[in-house]
Amino acid sequence: ALALLGPRDLVGLHVLVNAGPTHEAIDPVRYIANRSTGKMGYAIAEAAARRGAEVTLVSGPTSLVAPAGVRRVDVESAAQMHDATLAEFEAADVAICSAAVADYTPVAPADHKLKKSRERLDAIELTETADILADLCAVKGPRVVVGFAAETDDLLAHAREKLERKGADLIVANDVSRPESTFGADTNRVAFVTAGGVEQLETLPLPAVADALLSRIVPGGGPGTGP
Ligand code: CTP
Ligand code: CA
Repeated sequence: ALALLGPRDLVGLHVLVNAGPTHEAIDPVRYIANRSTGKMGYAIAEAAARRGAEVTLVSGPTSLVAPAGVRRVDVESAAQMHDATLAEFEAADVAICSAAVADYTPVAPADHKLKKSRERLDAIELTETADILADLCAVKGPRVVVGFAAETDDLLAHAREKLERKGADLIVANDVSRPESTFGADTNRVAFVTAGGVEQLETLPLPAVADALLSRIVPGGGPGTGP
């Protein structure tokens, strides 16, 4: 009966995943966010736990339930996701950055609800957020760090550029303008982009994408694995 649960080939490995969108406060009732649902990252966390890994999931605001056996750390903003992901990485062997981190955040969120009758709301001053993936790569040593690239054009060129600029071992590239890869879909069509080349996968259900990624990056995960 236990064999029905599948291989537990990740026992002894600590996998860190971040997932979901971030919320950047404008005032106590308004925020800037994006269309990420967190489904891809949660599927990776779930697959890693099913295969026996110790899993930490740093999650932005989503409507999803933490998968069984996964330790979830809840955050809201890009700054909180940055600090939590960097802190949790200290004990991890692998980091997978699937979160859709806000690129910009309001410089000075108001501590009260802004009133259109009283205050100007037609422009919000923004500042760039820190790059979590790049900061993980700067301290990773021999550990494996994976990023994502969700694009609408020039997918592989952008993915290669991100691989190099951030120093990641692998970028999971997906075209979010395609229905099978769009936000909220239960499938994804991804390419694994490494320094060694590009591996294009078919459209697969999210759990299968998660398993393929884990098998690709984990040492001993089968022939030809490891970035
Ligand atoms: N990322 C991150 N921290 C940020 C922005 C992005 O860790 N502040 C990570 C994402 O989690 C993803 C990868 O970097 O794994 C690529 O994110 P993406 O938004 O595609 O890249 P950017 O560098 O933000 O470039 P752009 O949005 O302009 O395409
Ligand atoms: Ca971005």
